[in-house]
Amino acid sequence: MEVITIVDIDYLVLVNKNNKLPDNWEDIVELESAKDAWKEEIKVEKEALKKYYELKKELKKEDINIELDSAYRSVDEQKKIWKAYEEEYGIDYVKKYVAVPEYSEHHTGLAIDVCLKIDGKLVFENYEMMNEKKIFSKIHKKLANYGFILRYPHNKEKITGYGYEPWHFRYIGDSKIAHAIMDNNLTLEEYKMNK
Ligand code: DAL
Ligand code: ZN
Repeated sequence: MEVITIVDIDYLVLVNKNNKLPDNWEDIVELESAKDAWKEEIKVEKEALKKYYELKKELKKEDINIELDSAYRSVDEQKKIWKAYEEEYGIDYVKKYVAVPEYSEHHTGLAIDVCLKIDGKLVFENYEMMNEKKIFSKIHKKLANYGFILRYPHNKEKITGYGYEPWHFRYIGDSKIAHAIMDNNLTLEEYKMNK
């Protein structure tokens, strides 16, 4: 008799500047295809994608339109992003906003970067999105209900290692834990340290 062992991913996995993607991750994570804002294929972890669609639907009721900009990224894709951003914005910017390949939580499939559609126009450049404070604040209030957290909040750079990214959401698999983090203005690092 064949024995099939199902290994669940750890939705609370910590991937940051000091913790790289766990070795067996790519073997166990279930990715699903979706379309990004430009109708290109993109992959997201199965449950995270389902919850993203629910969040998107809920936001639409308030006339807020989010689209996927980036989600799962292979190590090679992260290398390309690092290079492209370095060429465009310089090394200081890259270190503040882009993870070293193998150390990006985009490799987990649990992180999504969204962009906005405002009056039918896509707003996706980082500097443009930084100006959409009101919209992002409304979005951030809904994240925890769907098991997402804002992964790189304001004034937490010393803890997360990255500057404020209003667009980068991380699925952690549990709405209660997401609320414990978001309602107390914590980071995943702080939550895990106190566990
Ligand atoms: N922008 C985040 C830090 C990443 O590159 O994974
Ligand atoms: Zn991101």
